[in-house]
Amino acid sequence: MKKYSNRFATSDAVSSYEGAEYAPDGYASLIWELQKPFIHEILEAQDKGPGSCRLLDFACGTGRVLSFCEGFCAVSDGLDISAAMLERASERCQQSRLVVGDICTEAILLESPYNIITAFRFLLNAEPPLRVAVLEQLRRRIHSEHGILIVNMHGNSASARHLPLWLRRLRARVNPAKHQEVMMAEMSLAETRVLLRNAGFRVIREIGFGVVPGFLYRSSLKPICHWLDRRLCGSNFFKNISIDVIFVCVPI
Ligand SMILES: C[S@@+](CC[C@H](N)C(=O)[O-])C[C@H]1O[C@@H](n2cnc3c(N)ncnc32)[C@H](O)[C@@H]1O
Repeated sequence: MKKYSNRFATSDAVSSYEGAEYAPDGYASLIWELQKPFIHEILEAQDKGPGSCRLLDFACGTGRVLSFCEGFCAVSDGLDISAAMLERASERCQQSRLVVGDICTEAILLESPYNIITAFRFLLNAEPPLRVAVLEQLRRRIHSEHGILIVNMHGNSASARHLPLWLRRLRARVNPAKHQEVMMAEMSLAETRVLLRNAGFRVIREIGFGVVPGFLYRSSLKPICHWLDRRLCGSNFFKNISIDVIFVCVPI
């Protein structure tokens, strides 16, 4: 299995992320559209403290989240280990500084402390030691009084995504060669909270998105699935069984 940090190194991986995972009107794009107003509201409400507001989008990839958030801050940086992903980000982002590097092993010139740090679609699939190392680095770079971390975990083990994943695992056992590159990670909300707390963050808000599993969006039920997920997103009750949960955290 390829290490997570190398997974997005090639132009093929970038094309697949943009063209397949984030195909217009695909599952991931529809969930992202549901998340945007919530992120907008969080960024607007954030006490940015004195001085100029600084944002870091860690593992910014193709700039999907960074291009949406950059307008809220005077300084915005995107950091990613993949030069190929950043090449795409440079076409999308208007004002952000894009930096290639590994936050865990290199002395990267970042303009810390940041008031807002975002890290989307990173925690779930990163290897457990990498999750810990990255969160510790982000904790060191966040403003202790006026900082918020916004991360998501897009594979809640208590969601309906668990069933198709279980079937995939079964198929991978039967035919390991065919399924070895498929990402099948899951995490519980409790595990995510512990991970964040151990790195020095306190979760102040959790927002859930996507109760219906993605495979149903590929059927004729798609309009109903989308309607349901639009209705249920942000609900405190359904958060526990949502596939993708955003955690808003402050440094302890
Ligand atoms: C699934 S993509 C998410 C991109 C973006 N955050 C988004 O939500 O669209 C994961 C990103 O993490 C980056 N990545 C993986 N390991 C990394 C590391 N050690 N340091 C920085 N970025 C890393 C990959 O290069 C890739 O761009």
